[in-house]
Amino acid sequence: MQAIKIRDGIYRISANIGNKDLFEGIWPIPNGVSLNSYLVKGEKTALIDMVKDWDDAPGQIEAQLASAGVSFGDLDYLVINHMEPDHTGWLRELRGKNPGLQILASKKSIPLLKNFYGIEDGVQAVGSGDKLELGDGKTLVFEDAPNVHWPETMVTWEASSKVLFSCDAFGAFGAMGNKAFHDELSVSEKDFFERETLRYYANIVSTFSPFVERAIKKLEGLEIDVVAPSHGPIWRENPQDIINLYGRYASWMKGPALPEISVVWSSMYGNTRRMVDPVVEGIESEGVAVHIHRIPQEHVSFVLADAWRSTGIVLGMPTYEYKMFPPMAHVLDILERSHVQNRLAFRFGSYGWSGGAQKQLDEFTGAMKWDCVEALEFAGAASAEDLELGRKRGAELARRVKELCGA
Ligand code: FEO
Repeated sequence: MQAIKIRDGIYRISANIGNKDLFEGIWPIPNGVSLNSYLVKGEKTALIDMVKDWDDAPGQIEAQLASAGVSFGDLDYLVINHMEPDHTGWLRELRGKNPGLQILASKKSIPLLKNFYGIEDGVQAVGSGDKLELGDGKTLVFEDAPNVHWPETMVTWEASSKVLFSCDAFGAFGAMGNKAFHDELSVSEKDFFERETLRYYANIVSTFSPFVERAIKKLEGLEIDVVAPSHGPIWRENPQDIINLYGRYASWMKGPALPEISVVWSSMYGNTRRMVDPVVEGIESEGVAVHIHRIPQEHVSFVLADAWRSTGIVLGMPTYEYKMFPPMAHVLDILERSHVQNRLAFRFGSYGWSGGAQKQLDEFTGAMKWDCVEALEFAGAASAEDLELGRKRGAELARRVKELCGA
């Protein structure tokens, strides 16, 4: 693959990562992911963000740099927007190939550079408003963007081209193959990347939604012609679209999100399972879209994406040894870590000799500011009356979701 020109002297240098590993060691990437770096050539040459040694990413980067007439040894500067190892993992090796390489990073990155890579020399801390003149009309301007994704994160803007190098912000899962720009994707590819943008946001960024809103506010002061993130497509036709989309996702922490309901269920012997269909029927009778996930068969990554977009959440969960069924407790732990707050919920589930799951769930829903439709617990198998009540509670939940969303 060749370096892809974005503007004169500015190139995307990207590694396509396959699907055999988990992103951050936790999130599936069935369609891979891209690690985008950017080359900016003035009289001096800078690389913005980097890769880790993953699916020969360094080899992919080296070949693309070569296609733009640059070797690792030719780089004058490396700008590190974000220290997470998907963008820095190969740093020690790069320094080995280019001992004179000057590293520019935010002040909070300095201790991380030492702790992760033992690098202390040839490092310059930069902050909001600081500039790096590359010559030949190219100027990099830095802006702190704390907690999008880590506390040390910043973004970089090139003044002459108005290209924003946003690192994790405005990114998506999914490898890009030979394509670089959102406007060159087919309709189905755009749909795919919209889904994978949401899943990436919910999995990686959602916890930090208030910081995303702050960063977007800060960026209002910048003229942006191109958004060039470090994962996924580059936005050059309508760059504001992806910024607006991220703003919308961030707002969903406060609720309401979309007028949709995620049904997340798990069952030991089929008794809790029998309640799923009546509840879904009740929801659908009100014309509300439903996303159904069976746990633990499905990975929580996908549950989280649908929970983030849904105003309503149904939990089908039995009691297990006086507490919440462990696979569902894991899902709820992830929803808590990801700040899926301010939702409207309904829980149903079976118990054997004793309940207990509901008591534990009540503590969770209180902490998460979830409002709840009355729960439906039943001993052993649900009766015909229970099943009918489940249908009615599903419909009640759907009506309340519509009211909240003004749908
Ligand atoms: Fe793409 Fe937070 O690293």
